[in-house]
Amino acid sequence: MEIEVVHPGTSERRLKQWHAAEVASTGAERGWPLPAMTLQELEGHARHPGGEPIARYEALLAVEDDEVIGFAHSWWLSADNRHFVDASTHVLPERRREGIGRALLDHLVAAARADGRRSISLPGPLGSAGAQFAEAAGAKESLIERHSVLDLADVDAALVDRSAPPSPGYRLEAWGEVPPEHLLPSLASAQESMDDAPKGALDIARDTWTLDMIRALYALTAARGYRRLVVAAVHEASGDVAGFTEVQLPPGRSEYAEQGDTVVVPAHRGHRLGMSMKSAMLQRLRVEAPQLERISTWNAEENQWMLAVNVALGFKPAELWGMYQLTVG
Ligand SMILES: CC(C)(COP(=O)(O)OP(=O)(O)OC[C@H]1O[C@@H](n2cnc3c(N)ncnc32)[C@H](O)[C@@H]1OP(=O)(O)O)[C@@H](O)C(=O)NCCC(=O)NCCS
Repeated sequence: MEIEVVHPGTSERRLKQWHAAEVASTGAERGWPLPAMTLQELEGHARHPGGEPIARYEALLAVEDDEVIGFAHSWWLSADNRHFVDASTHVLPERRREGIGRALLDHLVAAARADGRRSISLPGPLGSAGAQFAEAAGAKESLIERHSVLDLADVDAALVDRSAPPSPGYRLEAWGEVPPEHLLPSLASAQESMDDAPKGALDIARDTWTLDMIRALYALTAARGYRRLVVAAVHEASGDVAGFTEVQLPPGRSEYAEQGDTVVVPAHRGHRLGMSMKSAMLQRLRVEAPQLERISTWNAEENQWMLAVNVALGFKPAELWGMYQLTVG
């Protein structure tokens, strides 16, 4: 078995093999209850790995007899989190317990050490093969997150319409691929408030967001083919972004999306802006993504404020995930 590093020039044939392994490993499987990434998503990541100032993506493929039998995703964070790698490993169901996952992880650990990194996080539903694999590798459970799913057919449209208008003193603004330039400074500050979300024992530092980082983040996800929808609350008196929520629609599928960040900056908390922005997002999705059937989101179990909004809107708990952290430096 060899380990290949995916790069922007990786052949279409290899990308298709990788996607087939992604479907076989993750698809409908119990223990990894998310839809597989689409071929277009994998291709977007391979062709646009990114890097400074956001995060660099890299995939490893375990290849035997010219077939992909396992793979690892990894996101190498930048800026204030240059010490951290977010990763996950996957092996074809019929090739498990042969040491392929461990070989992928060993490669990742060696690369992380060579790059001066100190922590790798590996996610997995509690009790799953992934969780047991991570713990066997010496990783420690460092944060528990609730994965919740909103089935859009169950959404109470009247509640959404009632909840969407913001409190007096605020207005909502919506945008897509490019944030309005005049809002960038306060959007960068709002992005920093995202660090208030509980991180448990994860070795994650607060990031300082510059305007270039915001521009780079939007440009990278767009280059990879994702459609970003943002609804923000703007404080009328100051003209500042008081909070925002975003949903990313992946390329190559229309029924499933993941919730991105939702944040209200501390000075503007307590005005129901979270409920207002997320309701307005659901109104927007009705029109702009009419085929969408469900949205997944992850929240730390102690993040009561965000969970309360999600539960009120109809998100149902699917399962608990652990973030397992491996110290390598
Ligand atoms: C997690 C996964 C990648 C493991 O791959 P693998 O090639 O089977 O793992 P390895 O054979 O290298 O196992 C290494 C060690 O992990 C532990 N382990 C792996 N799978 C396990 C399981 N199902 N139950 C208990 N322990 C397990 C064992 O200690 C194993 O060593 P051993 O076989 O000598 O006892 C694979 O089960 C998978 O693809 N699962 C679905 C996706 C997923 O959950 N990924 C994890 C995200 S980080």
